[in-house]
This record gives sequence, structure tokens and C-alpha cells, in this order.
Amino acid sequence: MNNFVCVILAGGLGKRMHSKIPKVLHNILDAPMIYHVINTVNKLKPEKLIVVVGKYYNEIKNALTEFNNITYAYQEKAKGTADALIKAIPFIEEKNNTILVLNGDTPLISTETIKRFLKLHIKNKNSISVLTFISRNPSSYGRIKKDNKGNIISIVEESDANEEEKTINEVNSGIYAFEKRALRLLNHIKINKKKKEYYLTDIIELASKEGLNISAYCIGSEEELMGINTPKELDEANKYFKNKLINNLIKKGVSFIDKDSVYISSKVSISRETIIYPNVFIEGNTKIGTKCKIFPNVHIIDSYIGNGVEIKDSSVIEKSVIKDNVKIGPFAHLRPESIIGQNSKIGNFVEVKKSKIGKGTKAAHLTYIGDSKIGNHVNIGAGTITCNYDGYKKNITKISDDVFIGSDSQLIAPVKIGKGAYVGAGSTITKNVPPYSLALSRVKQINIKDWVLKRKKLHNNHKK
Ligand code: UD1
Ligand code: CA
Repeated sequence: MNNFVCVILAGGLGKRMHSKIPKVLHNILDAPMIYHVINTVNKLKPEKLIVVVGKYYNEIKNALTEFNNITYAYQEKAKGTADALIKAIPFIEEKNNTILVLNGDTPLISTETIKRFLKLHIKNKNSISVLTFISRNPSSYGRIKKDNKGNIISIVEESDANEEEKTINEVNSGIYAFEKRALRLLNHIKINKKKKEYYLTDIIELASKEGLNISAYCIGSEEELMGINTPKELDEANKYFKNKLINNLIKKGVSFIDKDSVYISSKVSISRETIIYPNVFIEGNTKIGTKCKIFPNVHIIDSYIGNGVEIKDSSVIEKSVIKDNVKIGPFAHLRPESIIGQNSKIGNFVEVKKSKIGKGTKAAHLTYIGDSKIGNHVNIGAGTITCNYDGYKKNITKISDDVFIGSDSQLIAPVKIGKGAYVGAGSTITKNVPPYSLALSRVKQINIKDWVLKRKKLHNNHKK
């Protein structure tokens, strides 16, 4: 992209949101709306990125620490969009000639539309360009007024519009491109008497009267260019953004049984031929491979899932790695730092925490595995518990390859089970088990002959 400076206006008070959170920090899916604006424009590598902030300077700055290319301009009082842009001027350098202005509350804008808009602005050597769209409900936008040749001559806000102007449905997106020289006109904008603000939109009439080259480019859709002023608009924008993400995944070959019931955040990637069942939540930095099945009510956060993985109903996976062809759930819980090796199985009501599990290992039912290192082809019986916590610190359980742990065993860490060893069902293991040995720790069984019959007789005698 040609060199340009981007100014994002975010100094407003956002009163219409009725919220203590600054408007531009309300989330669209998983990130504040202004975060999306910056992310989108950064793809075009602006020479400089200036964000105009006001009362909420600190909050906004703290929410954007991930970006290292922001220059903040401070607007002490929210005196309007023209005043906000004036505050950015001292940071625009000699070499910068094209100034792109975006609104912090217009988060759905795409990189492609900005690129097209800037290209038109530069190609036509305009002093000012305005990005416009056709709105179904134009009342919350400035209307684009044109002369009889179709040239834009001014922008009229709803509160100043007469009945005829109110019928115009081409509206201002709040996105502009300026040739630097045109910015001097900002100083000639007069205060709007009704709202007591300086309107950036008034620059169009001033420029038109001076005969400068100005164009309105109606090149985007309402869904993409909607400004967010109210909670209702925030809700609509969320729906639109979510839908767009899911439709992109569908284009890549991911299937959804009921896409409207699914939540997927913006950083998630899913490969083709994976099927997502209803009510699935996939959040954060999650990557899911090809040919996986994610069954209903599964919740995955910041995890890596390989290919051919099946995650059955109501399982929760947090910050974990699941390698190829693993089967998880139903009702399994992988807590952070769990790594499950290829072809393994973590079944119903199994909880795994901070543990590495090898290939082809099975923990099929009702088990807790915490702070453990488990080898390949291990069989962990139902009801096994690694007792990792002694009340002071977490201790490690090591289980080598080919081990068999009988059901209902407790492994009291720190403890190591050697290669190929067996642990008899119902054992409490407190000492290391050498390779290929059988460990048993349970009271020997005794059978008392005819005990039941004797007891019955005693009982009957009492009754008499
Ligand atoms: C503005 C436009 C309107 C356009 C609409 C597009 C004006 C007068 N009107 O209206 O023509 O159709 O955007 O969504 O410009 N801001 C500041 N400082 C201020 C006031 C606002 O930085 O003193 C910032 C806000 O944080 C916001 C942006 O400028 O990000 C737009 O302000 P807002 O009050 O939302 O303007 P609209 O009424 O939506
Ligand atoms: Ca707005």
C-alpha cells in the first residue's frame, strides 16, 4: 500500500452505551472494538498510527499494549470529531501526505475495503475522500448531500437535517482520506450550535466551496461499515462478525450441524473436513486439525488439537495439546498443560492436569491424573487417582511404558511405576514399583463360611 498515516478517533465519551466501560473497549467477540480496527489497518502497514484518546486515555492504552506502533494524541475535552482530528496534527510528519481517518467505533471494516478506498483517493488525486454506504436505517448517520452532477457538497447530521435531507439513504461511514494540505480547513470549522461540538463532517462543505477535489465512494455494505453507538448495535455487530468468521470456516470445508449455536473466537483456526456439533465453544488461540469431530457442548480454550481427534459431549479442554487420533470424553476435563499422545483415550469423567501422556495409552473411566508423566501403551483402570498433593506441594507420578494399573488404585506421589509393571486393583501404592513386577497392597480376602445363615438364625431367635 502507498504510504499513509492512519488516525483513529477514539476520544468520545460513548454516552449512548450507558456503560462505565469506554465505548471503544466493548468487545466484538473476543477483543475490544478498537482492537479490531487497529488489527485491520495494521495489515496495510501504515507509516504511522495515531489514536486520539480523551477521558479514557489510560483504559484504552492498557487494552492496546499488544500493539507497539501506536502514537497517542490527547483530546482533553470531547469537543467533537473535528477537534479530535486537530489533536492528531502535531504528530503528522513532513513526509506524510495521505491521512486516513477511521472511527474507533466502526470495527467491522475490512482491510480490502480500506485498500480500495485509499487507491481511489490516490488515483483521483483527491483533497478529501469520504467512504459512504447505503443504510436501511440512516437516522444515526450523517447524510451525503450531492449537487445535480452527483458531486458531494456536504454532510448533514440527523439533528440538522430537514425532512427532504432525512430521506437520503447514502450515509457517511466516518472514514475519510485527506491530502495533508486539506487539513488546514479544520481550523475554519465553526461550532455546531445545537450539539456544541466541532463536526469533522463540516469540512466537506468548506472544501466544496473552495473547489477542492472531493469524492464520496459508496463501496461498502452497511454490515461492514456500521458504527456502534448503542448496546443494540453492539449486539448486531457481534452477530455479524461471528457469522462472517463461521462462514469463512465453512468456505474452507469445516462443517457445522447448527452454526448459530456455536461460538468461535477470531484467532481460532480449524481445518477442512472437521465437524462441529451444536453448542460448541472454541476460544482463544486454538488450532484444530482435519477430520476431527467436536461433539455437542464441548468447550475448548487455547489448545492445539491434531487430526482425526474425537472430542465427545460436554468435555472441557484448556491450554492443552491433543495429538492425532485421540479420543476424549464424554465429560472429560483436560486442565492446562496436558499433552495427550497419539491414539490415546481419555474417557468419561477423567480429569487430567499438567501431565504428559504417551501414545496408545488409555484412561477410560473416572480417573484423576495430575502432575504425571505417563508412557506409551499404559492402561489405567477405572477410579485410579494420582495423589499428587501432600498438603504442601505437588509431587510427580511417573508411569513407564506398558504398565497396567488395576481399577481403584491410588498412586501416592512422588512415585514411579517401572516399565511393564502391574498394579493390582484396589492398591494404594506408596513405594516405587520395579519393572515387570506386580504390586499389591490390599488386605487379604477372607471368606467366613455360612456367616449369613448363622446371622439370620440369631436374628430370628431374638424376635421370639
Ligand atoms: C459520526 C459522523 C457521522 C457518521 C458517523 C459514522 C460527525 C459529526 N458525525 O457520527 O456523519 O455518519 O460518525 O459512524 O463526525 N470522537 C472523538 N472525540 C470527540 C467526539 C468523537 O474522538 O470529541 C470519536 C469517537 O470516539 C468515535 C468517533 O469519533 O470513535 C465518532 O464519534 P461519534 O460521537 O460516535 O459520532 P457519530 O454520532 O456516530
Ligand atoms: Ca459513532
